[in-house]
Amino acid sequence: MPIIYNLPLKKAAGQTFNVEQFKDAVVLVVGGGGREHAIVDALSRSPFVTKIYCAPGNAGIAAQAECVPIADHDIPALLDFVREKGVTLTVVGPEVPLAQGIADTFADAGQRVFGPSAAAARIESSKDFAKTIMARYGVPTASYRTFEDFEEAWAYVRERPFPQVLKYDGLAAGKGVTIPQDAAEAEADLRSMLLDDRFGKGKVVVEEFLTGPEFSLMCLVDGDRVFPLALAQDHKRAYEGDRGPNTGGMGAYSPLPFVSEEDARWAVEHIMEPVAKGLVAEGIPFRGVLYGGLMKTPDGIKVIEFNCRFGDPETEVVLPRLESDFYLMVSAITDSTAMPEIKWSDDATLGFVMASEGYPGSYEKGFPIEGLTSDGLGVKDPDGNAIEGVRVYHMGTRATEDGFVTAGGRVLMVVGKARKLQDAWDKAFEGVEGISCDNLFFRSDIGHQAV
Ligand code: AMP
Ligand code: GLY
Repeated sequence: MPIIYNLPLKKAAGQTFNVEQFKDAVVLVVGGGGREHAIVDALSRSPFVTKIYCAPGNAGIAAQAECVPIADHDIPALLDFVREKGVTLTVVGPEVPLAQGIADTFADAGQRVFGPSAAAARIESSKDFAKTIMARYGVPTASYRTFEDFEEAWAYVRERPFPQVLKYDGLAAGKGVTIPQDAAEAEADLRSMLLDDRFGKGKVVVEEFLTGPEFSLMCLVDGDRVFPLALAQDHKRAYEGDRGPNTGGMGAYSPLPFVSEEDARWAVEHIMEPVAKGLVAEGIPFRGVLYGGLMKTPDGIKVIEFNCRFGDPETEVVLPRLESDFYLMVSAITDSTAMPEIKWSDDATLGFVMASEGYPGSYEKGFPIEGLTSDGLGVKDPDGNAIEGVRVYHMGTRATEDGFVTAGGRVLMVVGKARKLQDAWDKAFEGVEGISCDNLFFRSDIGHQAV
């Protein structure tokens, strides 16, 4: 009996759509954090996907995919794996393998891969490249100058009002940005970036300091085709009240009451589409997720940064709201074919990241985590049943005979889902309260700009 799929597809002119090509998909997800867990979760809801591998994955992902012990940046081993197992689509989570050219290598080898080329990934891996593209295509962002020489940078910075923003020009795991409040701090930061080569030899972008709420607009992009996803807001600082050092992100929620539909449309038309078209004009079309880190300033929406991949932890609150088939959506980008209608649940999601004490600095691992359901995907209520409306994405855990233990800086993302944002917060809070571990902390003020 042939399976009949009900596909709400919008066909582009002249395109044909053949459901057969999507059946029995075998997908490899590259990466092993909360973002990849949410990607695996979304793929597992597709009737087209029959098998999911994740390299390297983690203890929570293992409940939904077969984890394979290959590092996310070991491109030759990943290519051998997809050939050996007959993988039909590879979805790349993190920026490092993208910057190293995994999409180029896989495409050259005739493998379907979701993620941009190394050249297009420079929109994230080089702040200077991103700024040049924005300037060339009229995209609003903070004014800036780029320096390689310490003396020149210091002469420029010390003449200007503080605070200022200093960005190391390369991948630095979210730690390459400082916001010095005075000349002494600025001099120390510039020294560490340009003289001590803290992240390696490089350049520094000096930027005007902007103010306003930040938000994340992720778009699926295929050349000049741009499909916005639901908005989310991350919380980058480690501690309550937006204090403490910058982290990879301590929590997120979606949707955002302070960004109107009109704002979102404006940002797509004046920021995301011009960048996508600009990259096509430069001969480096982007194919994958273009992530706009945006700020709603008193002078309008401006770009803080671009990423070349799904955000983490934004993905863990955005994809659970998706009602369309995620596999078909990424296939439409990968193959440049018709995009299905993208539908979102009216429910809100809000998630707390539970991180190891000491993160984003040094921390210890191996602490037992109590309170999760046996598959690790939920939190138990006092009767031992999974709390409804609570979902756990694993960021850094390991399974032992006695249960889950901590194995990373960010360990778990506990997401609540409910009709209203406040109720989603309550759910997520019930979730974190149900988890006990001697070495985890979280920020309870996630969503403070909205609830
Ligand atoms: P980035 O890695 O570029 O996202 O920067 C990390 C964080 O620094 C951002 O999330 C902002 O909170 C802050 N930041 C970066 N650029 C600026 C800017 N031009 N003005 C104010 N804050 C900024
Ligand atoms: N949440 C910020 C990022 O993914 O870079």
